[in-house]
Amino acid sequence: MSSHFYQPETVTCNGEKFKLFITKEQIDERMKQLGVQLNRDFEGKKPIFIGILNGAFIFLADIMRHVTIPCEVDFMKLSSYGDEKVSSGQVTELKHIDAKIEDRHVILVEDIVDTGLSMNYMVKRMHENNPASVSVCTLLHKKVATKYEVQLDYVGFEIPDAFVLGYGLDYAQEGRNLSQIYVLDKA
Ligand code: IMP
Repeated sequence: MSSHFYQPETVTCNGEKFKLFITKEQIDERMKQLGVQLNRDFEGKKPIFIGILNGAFIFLADIMRHVTIPCEVDFMKLSSYGDEKVSSGQVTELKHIDAKIEDRHVILVEDIVDTGLSMNYMVKRMHENNPASVSVCTLLHKKVATKYEVQLDYVGFEIPDAFVLGYGLDYAQEGRNLSQIYVLDKA
């Protein structure tokens, strides 16, 4: 089924050129598959999805609409990149969750796990509140960039160590609105 969203082959964002990397169709298909897995794994557990802002907002909205079991949602906001294309190596917590997660099944939802710094921090932070379980669901994973080990339970796509944009991911806060995922065109 074709989408009514704007789907260019290349985009320019903050003066840098990006080319199409993962199409809307590929994303939609993968969302359905992850939804099936989540419904099966959390049946009867009423999980709480915790989206990590800003990047996870589109992924979370899409994946949650493939979840048919009872569930809840909350958000946390972290900042580690500033306006650069490489991580600053520091995690700043800009907003904590409002929900009580003691004895709850938590599913952390992230746009991308790069070095693993943010997710490593998040998982530890969640465990401070004695949840029943903490699972990690990320749209993208740059396996070769790993510096901090994190167990990833649900991964949309494994990608190489390249800078990507769109579907929630930004470059200096722009480009989050793109419906597909683009990669920096070094050519
Ligand atoms: P980590 O803490 O190094 O794993 O980085 C995770 C965060 O860095 C993500 O939540 C994104 O906000 C950001 N990030 C990492 N790689 C990219 C990228 O290729 N494009 C846009 N943002 C990225």
